[in-house]
Amino acid sequence: MIVLDQENRVFTLHTLNTTYQMKADQYNVLLHTYYGSRLEDCDFSALIRCDDRSFTPNPSEAGNNRNYSLDVMPQEYSTCGVGDFRLPAIELELANGSHTADLRYEGFRLEKGKYTLEGLPGFYSTEDEAETLVIILKDIAAQVVLELYYSVFEIYDLITRTVRVINQGTEEIRLCRCASLCLDYLRSDMDLITFNAHNLMERCLDRGPLRSGIQSVGSVRGISSHQHNPFVILCDRDANEEMGMCYGAMLLYSGNFEMAVECSQYENSRLVMGIHPYHFCFTLTQGQVFTAPEAAMVCSPNGFGQMSRQYHRAIRKHLLRDPYEGRRKPVLVNNWEATYFDFNADRLVGLAREASALGIELFVMDDGWFGSRNNDNSGLGDWQVNLEKLPGGLEALVPRIKNMGMKFGIWMEPEMVNEDSHLYSVHPDWVLHVPGRAPSRGRGQLVLDFSRKDVRDHIYEQMKEVLSSADISYLKWDMNRSLTDVWSAALTARSQGEVYHRYVLGVYDLLERLHCDYPHILIEGCCGGGGRFDGGMLYYTPQIWCSDDTDAIDRLRIQYGTSFCYPACTMGAHVSAVPNEQNGRITPLKTRGITAMSGAFGYEMDLGKCTAVEKMEIQRQVDSYKTHYDLLHDGDYYRLSSPFQDNAYTAWEQVSADQREALVSVVYDRIGAAPLFDTLRLKGLNPTFQYRIEGTDSLHSGEELMRSGYSISQKQEDYFAFQIFLRAVE
Ligand code: DGJ
Repeated sequence: MIVLDQENRVFTLHTLNTTYQMKADQYNVLLHTYYGSRLEDCDFSALIRCDDRSFTPNPSEAGNNRNYSLDVMPQEYSTCGVGDFRLPAIELELANGSHTADLRYEGFRLEKGKYTLEGLPGFYSTEDEAETLVIILKDIAAQVVLELYYSVFEIYDLITRTVRVINQGTEEIRLCRCASLCLDYLRSDMDLITFNAHNLMERCLDRGPLRSGIQSVGSVRGISSHQHNPFVILCDRDANEEMGMCYGAMLLYSGNFEMAVECSQYENSRLVMGIHPYHFCFTLTQGQVFTAPEAAMVCSPNGFGQMSRQYHRAIRKHLLRDPYEGRRKPVLVNNWEATYFDFNADRLVGLAREASALGIELFVMDDGWFGSRNNDNSGLGDWQVNLEKLPGGLEALVPRIKNMGMKFGIWMEPEMVNEDSHLYSVHPDWVLHVPGRAPSRGRGQLVLDFSRKDVRDHIYEQMKEVLSSADISYLKWDMNRSLTDVWSAALTARSQGEVYHRYVLGVYDLLERLHCDYPHILIEGCCGGGGRFDGGMLYYTPQIWCSDDTDAIDRLRIQYGTSFCYPACTMGAHVSAVPNEQNGRITPLKTRGITAMSGAFGYEMDLGKCTAVEKMEIQRQVDSYKTHYDLLHDGDYYRLSSPFQDNAYTAWEQVSADQREALVSVVYDRIGAAPLFDTLRLKGLNPTFQYRIEGTDSLHSGEELMRSGYSISQKQEDYFAFQIFLRAVE
């Protein structure tokens, strides 16, 4: 609910559990006055203290009032060069060379439903599911208008934001920074949580106290990256899963980003999040508009669990676009770890036949089916079927798979080209490169200039030929290197600061074309695993391959970190062979199944090599996944323990919306000679319901299971895992 106090120019956004407020003050500065637990209407600006502090300048309108300074007051969208020395949200270069931005309140408007962003991903709603406030700020001298957009999704405690910058002057301006979110706090006694690490170990949780100065994470790799994720949390120092104030901030963007928090001199803090300012500079001529990517905030006064569940619900309902319109997504088998590049049609059909007999429903043909692609140094860019490997093309192969009752999926890496390819021999100028420099290779490949429409059109024509040639239900869109040598032959020297962003817009453009032309195709995002696992990609690719590390124990940490923002149904997770291809670890098949099942489930191994006992276990896993699909995909997610803490096990739980069913998964990652008698306290149950534990006659009340817990113990077996299914009895 949006509440306006027009007389006092106070704007209050209420969600179910939270309140967000801003106010235009006597000098038309837009102050941020409150964000936290829901409080009924009042003007929180009384909390803001002003004092005469030296070296904190006073705007000219303040006259001799030395108590008023932008440098200490919480700003809704911070400016630069006019007295606030903390992190700027915006930086402008005007035609006269000045680098100042001074934004003052001009007005507001209300809109029904959620705002839309042209060419950029964002949450969506009907007119009744969200409401929008637009605050208009203006830099009068620069003739620049800023529109700050806020959409409120009340039941999810979700507030989405974006900013539009409009050049209303006659002279060109250059936008050197344009954050999507600026959030000032009258405190700095908080922890910062970020999700970091590297390829094969993405989104590991890192938590530490805010310190004086600036702490930041981000990416200048042209992708949101394996190293840092565009999702962060600020929280009370003692916040945990159930208690404490937490502020989640998510950027729906798949390219360079920066998230910085500054603790300032008087122990206030500011979070700024948006496109990374490295090599970012957009020129706006008269009338031109720049739209920043969307940011999405969820505040939870009751710990991380509630914050995550609110994000999950909102993402599932208002961000993902479901090609299967609510129908269950198929269990898939992917041939990559089974064959790598070494396959032909018969080998694929053989793999599919084994899978189909076990109840697997979708066969995905990974890298290696096109051009001269027999290793990773050639073929990218030539999206024509390799007829030596697949005689008769997809027209011949796909019916053979479909005749087994399976769907067919295919892999592509549209943004890339190998020098050893027909495309490169004809269009060497289409790659990102700086004139006079030989571009760096990554995995032996170069990056196509996706900021250019002609390049995208050419790739899309090739993709359409493939996708229209057979009955294809799934596409894995891969991307296997970071961007370097970022320069576009299609732009002038002055506009090169636009290339990184235009590249991302180009990727979104092609994904949107696919979405419109092939609405029935499920696109799984991938970037050497989870290098582009972000809210932007999720709008186009409702599931993303979580990591190239398929080891069930490493996956505990990866999927745990990912779950803080992103719902389980978005995380591509496969059972693979042992010893694991990435780290050599041997885990039981059951453990691998339980870990992968809490994601978009599939297999990535040669099932023909499995023993009869293993095949029975796989069939059981597939059946179990299908039985519990709604719970696993749409259930409320509870983290019961952390793989980053000193437990012998990691446990999590999915609970149905009506609390009548719950599935608990427990994976031990170490064994002891004298194992502990552990008690697992469950969460999210109805305290008054009686639950029966599947496979036993015992009944337990929800209250008992949540308060005194359920006794679990470990078998003397490496990486032992089990699940507990609970159903409420009438
Ligand atoms: C990287 C992906 O993450 C893998 O799953 C696989 O598709 C390879 N690329 C293929 O080259």
